[in-house]
Amino acid sequence: MSSGQFVSNCTADSMARAAQQLKAGFLVALPTETVYGLGADATNAAAVARIYKAKGRPADHPLIVHVSEMADISEWAEEIPEYAIALGRKYWPGPMTLIFKRSHLAQDFVTGGQATVGLRVPDHVVALTLLAEFKKLGGKGIAAPSANRFGHVSPTSADAVRAELAEYLIEGDLILDGGPSSVGVESTIIDCTGSAPRVLRPGAITAEMITEVTGLGLADSISDIRVSGSLENHYSPAAQVILDVTPISGDGFIALSNVPTPADVVRLASPSNNEEFARLLYAALRSADERSLTRVVVNQPAGDDVAIAIRDRLLRASRGR
Ligand code: TXA
Ligand code: MG
Repeated sequence: MSSGQFVSNCTADSMARAAQQLKAGFLVALPTETVYGLGADATNAAAVARIYKAKGRPADHPLIVHVSEMADISEWAEEIPEYAIALGRKYWPGPMTLIFKRSHLAQDFVTGGQATVGLRVPDHVVALTLLAEFKKLGGKGIAAPSANRFGHVSPTSADAVRAELAEYLIEGDLILDGGPSSVGVESTIIDCTGSAPRVLRPGAITAEMITEVTGLGLADSISDIRVSGSLENHYSPAAQVILDVTPISGDGFIALSNVPTPADVVRLASPSNNEEFARLLYAALRSADERSLTRVVVNQPAGDDVAIAIRDRLLRASRGR
């Protein structure tokens, strides 16, 4: 049993100290615009091994390496196609992860033994400041999966990270509080190892946004690449998630604000649009567990914007842990 220090005042000094902790091999949970990540020096095998232990995640599931700017990807990746450069220029920093053939820097312990590596420049001032400070110390990148136990709902606040992982952190580890995540669902993952981009996990960067920038049609999304988010049971609260039914007395309920709350139902979120739906969803699912609800009914949002990612996560959540 232990802790990990909570840092709510993310000043320049505290970011420099957090970078030193990373360099020394400790874990630093960090805010990003999508969800909070559990970070470690991506070149330090022992530190990365602690991420897997803290999450209870199987060792063959690859981690995303976060870098401070697009220029850094050439250290981690080989064979970067033109369309990927166009995507990075347009959408980084932002909620998009690109998969490339790995360089020697991306070792098995971070890629889960894959011959590829996932890279992302996050769009959050705390994450970017931490990455910049880490780079000053010679750091190459921060490996960070979502900061939840394996299979659980990703955290979108520092308190949610603490609730998930505090007991697995040790003295010297840190949890940085950067406020609630502004996007709320995990990054779009795009395989860039083929002649056209291929979406492996939907997110706020949509298929339309990808084709708009690359001028290419998307390759078929069926893949044998291991994406843990594609496992059947994932993103699940303890409460049973049930989609698109009328809630009954005692149920939790999540729906757009124009949908009224039936009597004796616990309204957990009333977002007014799909972006807000994404931003509130995971906190609402967590609050179902905090209130010890046994069922949470969700009305899925329609549309081909971030609603696609929301429906993807809800489908997995509805399959249970
Ligand atoms: O928004 C996000 O992507 C968040 C924040 C913290 O950046 N991170 C995140 O990481 O969601 P994680 O580990 O929870 O999910 C990343 C997914 C996993 O399903 C993993 O299998 C996949 O990305 N992934 C990572 N590297 C990969 C690779 N080389 N090939 C295929 N899939 C990869
Ligand atoms: Mg995750």
